[in-house]
Amino acid sequence: MSDIEHEHILKNINAALKNRKLYPAGHPAITTAANRAVQFSMAAFKTKSNFIIALVNDALVFEADIIADSETMYPDIIKYMAEKAVNAIIIEKGVSENEMTAFFDILAGPAVTGQELQKTLHAKGIVHMTLKSVQMGKKNMLAIYNGARETVKNVMQEIRMGKLPKSESVSAAVDDITESVLSDQNAVIGLTMIKNYDNYLYNHCVNVSIMSLSLGKALNLDKDELHAVGVAALLHDIGKTGVSEDIIRKPGGLSSEEWEKLKEHPQLGSNIIHRMEKMVDLVARLVFEHHIRYDHSGYPQTTSTLHPFSQILTICDAYDALTTLRVYQKPHSPVEAVKIMNNLSGKHFNPDTLKRFINMIGVYPVGTIVRLSSGELAIVMKVNPDATFSPFVKIVCDSEGANITDPVDTDLAAEDARGRTIISAVNPATVSINLADFFEKEASQKEVITQH
Ligand SMILES: [Fe+2]
Repeated sequence: MSDIEHEHILKNINAALKNRKLYPAGHPAITTAANRAVQFSMAAFKTKSNFIIALVNDALVFEADIIADSETMYPDIIKYMAEKAVNAIIIEKGVSENEMTAFFDILAGPAVTGQELQKTLHAKGIVHMTLKSVQMGKKNMLAIYNGARETVKNVMQEIRMGKLPKSESVSAAVDDITESVLSDQNAVIGLTMIKNYDNYLYNHCVNVSIMSLSLGKALNLDKDELHAVGVAALLHDIGKTGVSEDIIRKPGGLSSEEWEKLKEHPQLGSNIIHRMEKMVDLVARLVFEHHIRYDHSGYPQTTSTLHPFSQILTICDAYDALTTLRVYQKPHSPVEAVKIMNNLSGKHFNPDTLKRFINMIGVYPVGTIVRLSSGELAIVMKVNPDATFSPFVKIVCDSEGANITDPVDTDLAAEDARGRTIISAVNPATVSINLADFFEKEASQKEVITQH
């Protein structure tokens, strides 16, 4: 979204709020501004499903951008947000002019705060706008990723030492990842390209959590369901603490005895979660079921019906495993991984959930290295919902193979891409591009508004 769009949205919201004090509800001065705010939001929703307007230290922040001079430019938004103790307004795709107008009535209306304010929103039928009135902070997206990895590491170390981990740190890590996904899903999916060989297990858990939260969001899970899915994904392999490292890291095939031991990890993991405080049953169930396939092959053996959300974990787990270098496997490119998984649709994977997953990550998923018709190499940065074969990319190598030091975003569907098209996906092992470094750098420049 461009700065101009930010400006138009904020300008019209501010005008509507200002006019709400001067004129009665339903006056054209209010409805026209509301209508414009909705129209300009539509442009933003071409590339994302929601955006956040936050109040941080008396200044407005639109997504991660601090708005300069917001106190003089948009005094009414700031005034009403401060008055109602609202830290953030989240506007979702599908918002209507009626919702927007009703929202202005509430914000400019009598003083109610916190839960009451949110209840009033629901009572008025406003479903595409959410208010947050919690202590908020800003965190760097890379710091959130690394923090989540440390959390998993600590949890697993505690279990190995015979302690029962607390669930608070896990819950906070999932909240932060959720905020990252809501703030910039493409950037955070880019981070799943971090496949540190030595830290494999911990990175893998974070990656599966990021993708499961993204898929859960695409499947319209409610807040509590989404949280449970995120926690289960982050902890799905904690049962591996009960399996010796030698078996987990063993190159080549496992003996049948070792294999039987490894297959215990879903049960072991769900036992641990059952004993942890403040864990809902759904988390333990999803962990128990994460290796049971759609056709009930896999393990542990069961004849009972699977929870519909366990396929979220199964699919994201498989995708991250396929795209990772393992002792027994070369990494597949994201495009190859999707192909392999598609062939297992209806067998290992629920066809509907898999379809939603593939729609979410796109034909050329974020992190795919592609060769362009110009001979250049590019990295996919963002799925283009309107043109799945022409994503947003960064061109990182020119046609001679020389690295481009400061690559810029190119929308392959736009005119300034000068007709460049994708010729093929390139296997990352065949080129000297370090995807993990690349996405770490990208994420280190992104701020996320968090609740902690
Ligand atoms: Fe597992």
